Amino acid sequence: MAAFRRHVCIRERLGASFGKVVPLLSSQPNSIDTSALVSFVDLNPATEDFRTAVIDGLSNPQKELPCKFFYDERGSQIFDQICDLEEYYPTRTEISILEDRLGEIAELVGRGAHLVELGSGASIKIRTLLNALPDLAQYTAIDISRDFLLQSASTLAEDYPDLDVAAICADYTTDFEIPAAIKRRSSGTVAFFPGSTIGNFTQEEAELFLRRLASILGTGSGLLIGVDLKKDAAVLRAAYNDAKGVTAAFNMNLLSRINNELGADFDLESFYHDAVYVDSLGRVEMRLISKKKQTVSVGETTFAFDENEYIHTENSHKFSVDEFRQICEMAGFTPIASWTDKNSLFSVHYLTVG
Ligand code: AVJ
Repeated sequence: MAAFRRHVCIRERLGASFGKVVPLLSSQPNSIDTSALVSFVDLNPATEDFRTAVIDGLSNPQKELPCKFFYDERGSQIFDQICDLEEYYPTRTEISILEDRLGEIAELVGRGAHLVELGSGASIKIRTLLNALPDLAQYTAIDISRDFLLQSASTLAEDYPDLDVAAICADYTTDFEIPAAIKRRSSGTVAFFPGSTIGNFTQEEAELFLRRLASILGTGSGLLIGVDLKKDAAVLRAAYNDAKGVTAAFNMNLLSRINNELGADFDLESFYHDAVYVDSLGRVEMRLISKKKQTVSVGETTFAFDENEYIHTENSHKFSVDEFRQICEMAGFTPIASWTDKNSLFSVHYLTVG
């Protein structure tokens, strides 16, 4: 996560590169050495106005905040800590499934494929795959966080000198596309969407997203996706209410961000974190609950909280293997293989378009 701390002015430099492939020169500024990268395409994802989103969300009868705002520098660091928690099984379980099934995955992906990772982040899980897929034609990382994307894709390109590595800065939930100049280089495209990030979507949103993804990838392409499974509510509760309070800090960080960036006056002592599994909706809801009746100002706007009133900050949907496969089928994918760990905590699916 160190990349976030380096204040690189790459945004301005690359601002004019809308949709064009920019060959990266070793003369990139400051500390990011992008010389090993094949190409970078900036689709200039619209950065949603944080203030507008916060005011809109807090104005709803059920107050809510979009979960994508968790991931500022500190939030990303805390999320990394979540992934290492004893109670938070998804990360290590997904990696263990991938490791167990590398042979089968390599078969399905085939030779000369183009692997495209959605929300590549630190590009860590991908290394497990890259090590087992020696015949890949290309790896393309897609992420909305420009500097972080360039940093991690560049490091990856250095570590895998024989692999063509490209980076696309885009919001894959909205304007994502694979520019022709990047797509043309290989035969089969396989998207990799790990971490059960799909669980942040409602079922309708997930279906819409998958349908769009199917059309972007094209018939015959593959999708390797990690999906968290339905399970004992106590296990879910523990995973999102860890004993060390790391998830609480992750959730509360949203309020700190709003205070720091929008001049709000949330009293952090008078809110607490909770995460509840809502069985009827098949999802964990992250909440920030007001300990008392109070008002909070965000700039000019004041919001009233009752005692125990909460802000809904994230949905994390859980699926059965069959439920997930059905959603994929409705969205135009054909399920090819589904794998779980021996405790049925997490699933990884391979699907093809069409
Ligand atoms: C990154 C969205 C998959 O839902 O488990 C972890 C985020 N929130 N702990 C999840 C998260 C609280 C995570 N996803």
